[in-house]
Amino acid sequence: MSTASQVSTRIEDPASVDAAIESRFSTRAFLPTPVPRATIEDILRVASRAPSGTNTQPWKVHVLTGASRDGLVAKVCAAHDAVRDNPALAAEYQEEYDYYPSQWVSPYIDRRRENGWGLYGLLGITKGDKEKMHAQHQRNFRFFDAPVGLMFTVDRVMGRGALLDCGAFMQNIMVAARARGLHTCPQAAWNNYWKLVMQHIGAGEGEMLVCGMALGFADESALVNRFHTPREPVANFTRFHD
Ligand SMILES: Cc1cc2nc3c(=O)[nH]c(=O)nc-3n(C[C@H](O)[C@H](O)[C@H](O)COP(=O)(O)O)c2cc1C
Repeated sequence: MSTASQVSTRIEDPASVDAAIESRFSTRAFLPTPVPRATIEDILRVASRAPSGTNTQPWKVHVLTGASRDGLVAKVCAAHDAVRDNPALAAEYQEEYDYYPSQWVSPYIDRRRENGWGLYGLLGITKGDKEKMHAQHQRNFRFFDAPVGLMFTVDRVMGRGALLDCGAFMQNIMVAARARGLHTCPQAAWNNYWKLVMQHIGAGEGEMLVCGMALGFADESALVNRFHTPREPVANFTRFHD
């Protein structure tokens, strides 16, 4: 699409664009149905229209399917089990950049708790049930059974803005996936295991893992996919300055 047609393009069906955005949710149960490579490439091509500071396009994406996907799942699930069995090992698996604060404050901690216990509550997992919590958390490291796992990296030399650019790219992927009947779950859970991930995908020393993502067809019958998250009304996060 040339710039001229970008300027003149009229969105004939705004409701479809909104539906693609609003029907995106963090899908935590997928069908094994494969996603054709051409579809993945198409999504990535469209998503790469994301803006980035001075058009640096700092993102890289590693697409894992088949044996490569399964191999990473086996390695990280084993590491996750090992940390459960020996919590001292957690020191080995620290995330490289702070996605979350070290000290949580309101209202974020409240929303985080509501989210966590809402999800576990739906699945019948109670606070004391460590095994079930571990198993549910480990579903992250199986890409929630999705056949496609994506790993996003940026070049270490870039500034924090590159994370913003990568986030815009990721959101485009999630929306473009919806337009093709697919669902996604962005996954920072992988970040703790970045050393294993980066070694597995053969990423260079200069790359930093930003996030993972599961991609595939949602299992519509799964209870976990009925988990719906609320949002603050616009007035709560907006100030108009006239
Ligand atoms: C960058 C990023 C990382 C996330 N990491 C995880 C994750 O590791 N595991 C998970 O189950 N959900 C993860 N989520 C999903 C959030 O919990 C979810 O977006 C939030 O609760 C809002 O729900 P929704 O996505 O269904 O609208 C992540 C979301 C984002 C944006």
